[in-house]
Amino acid sequence: MNRPSTSIHGQWSSRWAFILAATGSAVGLGNIWKFPYITGENGGGAFVLVYLLCIACIGLPLMMAEVMIGRRGRQNPVNTIKSISKEEKKSPHWKFIAWIGLLAGFIILSYYSVIAGQAIAYVFRSFAGVFEGVTPDGAHNIYATLTSDPERLLAWHTVFIVCTMTVVARGVTGGLEKLVTFIMPALVAILLILVGFAANTGDYFTQGVEFLFSPDFSKITPEGVLTAMGHAFFTLSLGMGAIMVYGSYLPKNTSILKVSITIAIADTVIALLAGMAIFPLVFANGLSIGAGPGLIFETLPIAFGHMAGGALFGGMFFLLLVFAAWSSAISLIEPAIAWLVENKQVSRRRASVTAGFAVWLLGLLTVFSYNIGQHWILFGKTMFELLDYLTANIMLPLGGLFIAIFAGWTMSKKSTQEELAITSPIVYHGWLILIRYIAPAAVIIIFLNAIGLLG
Ligand code: PFF
Repeated sequence: MNRPSTSIHGQWSSRWAFILAATGSAVGLGNIWKFPYITGENGGGAFVLVYLLCIACIGLPLMMAEVMIGRRGRQNPVNTIKSISKEEKKSPHWKFIAWIGLLAGFIILSYYSVIAGQAIAYVFRSFAGVFEGVTPDGAHNIYATLTSDPERLLAWHTVFIVCTMTVVARGVTGGLEKLVTFIMPALVAILLILVGFAANTGDYFTQGVEFLFSPDFSKITPEGVLTAMGHAFFTLSLGMGAIMVYGSYLPKNTSILKVSITIAIADTVIALLAGMAIFPLVFANGLSIGAGPGLIFETLPIAFGHMAGGALFGGMFFLLLVFAAWSSAISLIEPAIAWLVENKQVSRRRASVTAGFAVWLLGLLTVFSYNIGQHWILFGKTMFELLDYLTANIMLPLGGLFIAIFAGWTMSKKSTQEELAITSPIVYHGWLILIRYIAPAAVIIIFLNAIGLLG
C-alpha cells in the first residue's frame, strides 16, 4: 500500500481551517466539565501543575507527531500507520496502535454524548428561567432530578448522537470550520463574563484562584498524577488518532509546530478560565469541591441565577458548551468512519448510521449509571466511571506512548525532518528528545507509579 498524496476524504481549505477544526476537537467537555471537577477531586494547584507539565512535555510533542503522521499517511489511522511502516521497512503490526485509538474514540463518545445531553437539557432550563434565584440545594436538586430519570437522559443522548452523526455523514472538511469560528470567540467571551462575576465574590475569588494555582504537593497522589496525565491526552484529543486523522486532511506546507502550539495554548487557556469561573463559586456557596461530574451543573446555575440577564447568559453558555462538545464528538468518531469508508467500501452515510447506532447503544451503560444502574459496580466504579477511567487514564496514554515510539524510533529521522519541516535544528532536536525519551519515559513512570510499583 503506497501513500496517497491527498486524502480521499478531502482537505481543509486552509491552515486556519485546520487550526479551527483541531481546536474544535480539543476544546470541549474536557475543558469545561471535566477539568474543574477532577481538579477539585485531586486537591487543586499541584494537580494543575502536573497537568500543565504533561501538556508541555508530552502533549505538545505528541500533537506534532500525530499531525505529522497523519499528513504523511493521508488515510485513516490504521492504513496510515500501515503504509508508513511499510515505507520505513518496519512491521505492519504497528497498526495495532490505531486500533486502540479507534476503540477508545468509540467508547469515549458513548459517555461524552450522555454528558453533552445533560448540557442540552440545561440550555432549556436556563432559558426558561428555572435557575432564577436558585439556592445551592435547589441547584443540586435540579441536577439530581435530571439524572435520576433514565428516559430524559436517554432522550438527550439520542438527540446528541443524531446531531453528531448528521455532520459526520456529510464529511467533516466542509462546514465544521464555520461552526468553530463562531463558537470559540463566543465561548471565551462568556467565560470571561463568568470569571468577572466570580471576581465579585471578593475573598472567595482569591481562594478559588489560589486553589487552582498554588500547589500543595501533600494533596497529590500517584493516582492523581495519572489522572492529570490522562487528562492532558483527553483535553488535547491525543492518543487515539483524532488529531492524526485531521492531520491527514492538512495541506502540505503548513507549519506543524505553529499550529500545534496554537491549539495547545487555546485549549489550556479555556480550561484555566473555566476553573477560575467555577472555584470561587464553589467556595462562596459552601459547595463540595469534590462534587464530581455534577460540579458545573450544580455551581454555574447559582451564578446564572443571581446575575442580571442570567437566564439569557446561562442559556447561551450551555448552548456554546453543547456546540463545543459537538465539534469534539465529531472528531471522536472520524477515525472509525474514515476506516469504514476506506476499508469496508461503505458510503459515509452508511458508516455514520452504523457507527452512530453502536455508540448510542453503548451509551446506555452511562445513562443507567446515573439511575437504575447506579449499583452496577465493577472494580469499585460505576459503568460510566469505569469507561471514563479505562479510556482517559489507560487507553489514551497507552496509545500516546506507542505513537511517540512510532514517531521517534520507527520513523526515520529523514522522514520526520522532511514532514515536520522545522527550520531550526535546535527546535527539531528538542522535539526529537521529547518524543523519543521524555514523553515515553514519563508515561511509563506515571503508569508504574499509579499501580504502586515505584514504592
Ligand atoms: N478533547 C475533547 C475535550 O476536551 O472535550 C475530548 C476528546 C475529543 C478526546 C477527541 C479525544 C478525542 F480524540
